[in-house]
Parts: sequence; C-alpha cells; structure tokens
Amino acid sequence: MNTRPMTDTTPAAKKPTEVTITRAKGRPMLSWVGKKPLGRVTAFPAQAIERFSATNTSTADAAPAPALGTADWSKWPQDLPHGGLLYHGDNKEVLAHLLANGFRGQVKLVYIDPPFDSGADYVRKVQLRGPKGTMKIDGEDYALGEQVQYTDIWSNDNYLQFMYERLLMLRELLADGGTLWMHCDWHRSHLLRLVVEEVFGEESLMNEIVWKRTASRNDSKTFGHVHDTLLYLVKGVENRTWNRQFLEYAPEYLDKYYSQDDGDGRLYTADNLTASGLRNGSSGSTWRGFSPREKGVHWKYKTEELDRLDKAGLIYWPKGGAGFPRLKRYRDELKGKPIDSIWDDLFAVNSQADERSDYPTQKPETLLERVIMSCSNPGDLVLDCFIGSGTTAAVAQKLGRRWIGCDINKGAIQTTAKRLQGVMREQAQALAAATQQGELVARDDAPPAPCQLSFSTWRVNDYDLHIQHNEAVELACQHLGITRTRTDPFFDGTRGTLLAKIIPLNHPLTPLDLEALRTELKNRPEEERDLLVVSLGQEHKAREWVAHYNHNRPVNKIHLTELRTDRKAGGFIQHEPMTVQARATREGETLVVQIDDVVSPSIIARLDLQEGVFRASIPDWRAVVDCVLIDVHHNGEVFNVALADVPARKQDLVAGRYTLPAPPAGATVAVKVIDMLGEESVVRLTV
Ligand SMILES: C[S@@+](CC[C@H](N)C(=O)[O-])C[C@H]1O[C@@H](n2cnc3c(N)ncnc32)[C@H](O)[C@@H]1O
Repeated sequence: MNTRPMTDTTPAAKKPTEVTITRAKGRPMLSWVGKKPLGRVTAFPAQAIERFSATNTSTADAAPAPALGTADWSKWPQDLPHGGLLYHGDNKEVLAHLLANGFRGQVKLVYIDPPFDSGADYVRKVQLRGPKGTMKIDGEDYALGEQVQYTDIWSNDNYLQFMYERLLMLRELLADGGTLWMHCDWHRSHLLRLVVEEVFGEESLMNEIVWKRTASRNDSKTFGHVHDTLLYLVKGVENRTWNRQFLEYAPEYLDKYYSQDDGDGRLYTADNLTASGLRNGSSGSTWRGFSPREKGVHWKYKTEELDRLDKAGLIYWPKGGAGFPRLKRYRDELKGKPIDSIWDDLFAVNSQADERSDYPTQKPETLLERVIMSCSNPGDLVLDCFIGSGTTAAVAQKLGRRWIGCDINKGAIQTTAKRLQGVMREQAQALAAATQQGELVARDDAPPAPCQLSFSTWRVNDYDLHIQHNEAVELACQHLGITRTRTDPFFDGTRGTLLAKIIPLNHPLTPLDLEALRTELKNRPEEERDLLVVSLGQEHKAREWVAHYNHNRPVNKIHLTELRTDRKAGGFIQHEPMTVQARATREGETLVVQIDDVVSPSIIARLDLQEGVFRASIPDWRAVVDCVLIDVHHNGEVFNVALADVPARKQDLVAGRYTLPAPPAGATVAVKVIDMLGEESVVRLTV
C-alpha cells in the first residue's frame, strides 16, 4: 500500500487556514442533542491528482481548437486551472478549502443529494469486464460481489449536525441570488426543511418539489413510498436567476382547446378577458358597450391595453355580440404548460439507460437538467459536494455551466471522472466536426456550448488509499476484532470496553488527528470509555501528545495500535498491490505503449472466496481492468491525462496497446491502471 502523499500544488493554500462561518439566524430552530454552531473551520490544502483535457488527447489533437462558450473567469482563483474541479475528501474539509481559496460568494447553484439517513449500506455490484460468457466458471459470471460505496446509517442527532455544518458552509459559498437545491426523502425531509430554513431564513424557501421517481412500489405494510422531496431555496430572492420551465402540451389537449381558425390557418383559443371581483378604475369600467361590473368581474387589462390588443387583431368578438369579447391565444406562440411543484414526468435511471453508471442512488440527468436550467445560466458555477456518480457535473457540463464536484468515496470520484471524460470528449468531437463543416452559427435548439473541455481532480487532506477507504476500515476492523458501530460518524466501532477510532490509513497519526479526537470527546461529556486509536504509523509528536494526555487521566485514556509494527493486527496491510507490466517505445514521432499483463491480487482473492469457484484463473488480464490512463510527459506530481481508455460498456475490454504523439527524449511516461475494484497502480517508464 503506497501511503506517500502527493506534493501540494496549490500555492495559495500551503498551510491550513481558518475560515469564519456566519451564524444562522433563521426561525424556527430545530434542536438536537449536541447541536453546536460552526463559527470557524480549518481549511486544509489540496493536492492535484489528475488533469484531463478533451482537446489534448491523441485523437483530438488533429482537430482545430473548438470555440468554447462564454464564462466570466475573472473571479476564478488564479492558482487553479480554468475547468471543472473534482475534489476527493470529506465535504466539510473541501467546502472549507473552497471558502479559503477564493470561492466565497461565487457559486450560483448548489444541488446536493446527501445520504438520506435511510439506514442502508449502499453497495455497487462489481463484475469483470468482457463479453458475456467468456469469464465464467460453472455457468456463473465472474462477479466480484458487492463493494460498499458509502454507508447511510446514523444516529439522528449526528446526521442533523452533519447536515447543519455543510449547509452553513454552502450558504457562504453561494452568490447573492444563488440557489440551493436539497434532495431528500421521507426519512428526514421534515427535519431538513427546518434546518435549511434556519440556515437560509424561511423567506428563502421557494418550493418544496415532489418528484415521483417511480410509478409503483410494493410496500406491503404501508402505502408505497414513490416520491422524493426537493427543497429549493434562494440566498437573496431579489437577485435570483429564474428561468421558468415548460412542458410540451399533449397534442390531444391542443386539438381540443386550440382549434379555432383565424382564416389564415393559425389556430387559437379564445381565452377569458375578465377576472372575478369588482375593480375601480378603467379595468372596472364599460368597454365597447360591455360592462364587467354587471357580471361581478373586471377586465384583466386597462382600457388602453384592450384598445391596443384589439388594434392588433387579438380580440375575438363573438358573433352578434353574443358574449363578452375574449383574448386570442395562438397555438404557435405557446411556450408549453408551466411546470408546477409535482414532477411526475421524470423517471429514475433504469437498468438499460445509457447514462447508467452502476453507482447506487444515481439520479437521472433529466432531473438535474430541470434544476440547473431553471436557476442558472450558461457560464454560471454549479456545485455538488455529494457528487456520487457525477450526474450534476455531467449535466452542468452538457448545459455549458462551470462545475465543482466532491465526494468522500474514491469510487465516486473515479466514476465521475470517467463520466466527465466521456462527456467532454464527445463535446470536443462535436465542436471540432461543426467547425470543420463551417457550422459556426448554433441552431436555436442546440445546447449551450461548453465553457470548458478540461477538469482536474484534487484531494483534500489526503484521503487517498490504494485500496478504497471503506474497504481499508472494514479490513482493519476484521483484523483487530472491532465491532463496527455504523451509527457513529466519528468512532468506527468498539472492542470490548474500548471505543475504537481508525485514523485514515494514508498518513501516520499526527497531533492534529488527536486534537480532533479531543474536540469530539468534549462534545460527549458522558463518555467514560477508554479509546483505541488505530493508525498505520505514528508521528513521534503524536506519541508524546498521548503520553501527556493520558497522564493522571481517570477516563478516556488513549491506547494506540500501530499497524505497521503490529505483526498480528497489521497482517492485512501486507495486502499485495496490483502489478502492471507495460512497455513504452518510440517509433519515429509516435509513442507506442503496450500493456502486457495486469495482476490484481485483491480481485483474485475475491474470486477465490466465491463458492463454486475452485481456483480463479483469468485468461485475459483485460477482464480485471476498468480503465487505462496515460500521461505522456509525467512531471512526477499531477497526472495529465493524454489518453483515457474507458470502455463504455461492461462487455468491452480496454485496448491494451496505444499510440500517441511521442514526447521529448528522456520524458517519463506514466501509465495508470484502475481495476474493477477501484484499486490503482501507476507504472512510470522513461522513453
Ligand atoms: C445519494 S449519493 C449521491 C448520488 C448522486 N446524486 C448521483 O446522481 O450519482 C450521496 C453521495 O454522498 C457521498 N458522501 C457521503 N458523505 C460524504 C461526505 N462527508 N463528504 C463527501 N461526500 C460524501 C457518498 O459517498 C455518496 O456518493
């Protein structure tokens, strides 16, 4: 397991800094045990991991540079590349990082789809790649079982505090007039509504949307839960962006109501020109012999406007004065049926959908299209700090918005990165083709041009592991006999009378980790148990810190376990990493990269565990590989993706042999292979 952190490449954020968060003033306020304000929060630096540009791949190189849509980058932090930003880390730390690095007040739209406190572990089914049938034993597909992507089991109070803190920070990031969309379901929507109203003020709530995500659900003991709730709030109502959305009318409706012919083929309906109730002034007075007062109504318009409409031929006069005049509304001018707060026309992602990424709880792109189109304009910045499979970023990208995404789960970051590479590559190819064919004027119905064709991936506070974080914690708990307590967002479990905390295994235990532990204990005054703190290594200062802390302490003493030196407990970290055999050669101006073999001990171990499978043998190494990325001129720090081989369908395999433009002599070519469990291995080759 490689635990070496990458070099920090954000010059402005070399050291942790503190950012201040304004207190929430809204009423009413919800109370929970352990509720605490978030006055200050520490912002950690970010490390750049990967860069992707759709105009910088071997295939797109030949095409002319595409014309990008407009965006105002003038307030964009100088240290950051213009493009999408994808952060791997706990969103509390990522949001603090964004606040400390120039994004305060810059975000136009936030959509979040946080864990719903549903009490479930969200898993993804993992399978090997390849045509159906080739990777089988005894008629079974080689399935690698399920991999926990994230856990949604909390105690109520912890969940509310978790959400409260994120919402307070999101409000700081929002621009004046910016909007927050929060996706929730019946488990916690009633509580979350109070929390958002406290944070944003109750006047900020614009809508509570009901999204009927499925037609039926067979819950035998209750009425089927078929809808989710979206809360839509604005920070600064006067300046909000609001693009009203419409649905096309059904042809039957139009045929029934918009069927009167003007004689020139234009169809219209004759709409009411009056509204109920008496009014003084010209809208209440007799016009052209018709007195609204006698009917207890008034004109919808003043006399001058009625005259103007009539002059324009827009008034329908019933034959022989048989009724009040009416307003002609033409069928060809209809925008559609205004969308209301019940959304029952958007369907969840089904198993056959092109957009399906196999990430649990993936939301449909149509839902995000409606949200993003209604409350932002091309060029605006959209943020989702629970990005999951990347739906918000993909849709923002397709609609010409800028975007920032974040997730704590490495699988989510990999899925989002793959998805965005695909979207940007398609956009780049379409733009290049349009430019070549001289289609410089966009059609009215064309989506807005993308304002970026590149993005970078960052890590905040070193959450990277060569194995997934969730998986590492599971393994550590198994090996140490720790019983997981999934309802506690801070401690990982218990062992006997000890409360156990597993420090992320990508860095040695530091005094900073221990300070976080002390702060947590301050909020749990009743906690009397001693603590087991597990880490991969320990900084000397951390050991000193613990010795000092434990001195004369009656309760909450800290016991340390260091996996690296603990032969028995640390056995699992001997876990063999994936190996990749690859070659890179020059053929004139061309670089040829050939992968000869990939062995993933984790996948083999998983297959060996399966019933019915005697000893796993994988005839084609490509079955274990999810994708291959190549950086032709690796600088040792950030991985610049020059080529990404990410087969869209599960039955397709990566190519394994690649040709690219050759880099200068002596360059380092880096080949990153990601296996079907999300483990990564990077091979560096000098050419
Ligand atoms: C319901 S899913 C989002 C699904 C997403 N809307 C989509 O369409 O794919 C929630 C996501 O929040 C992430 N998450 C949970 N806690 C987090 C935290 N503290 N920081 C960042 N991401 C977190 C989970 O890993 C998960 O990917």
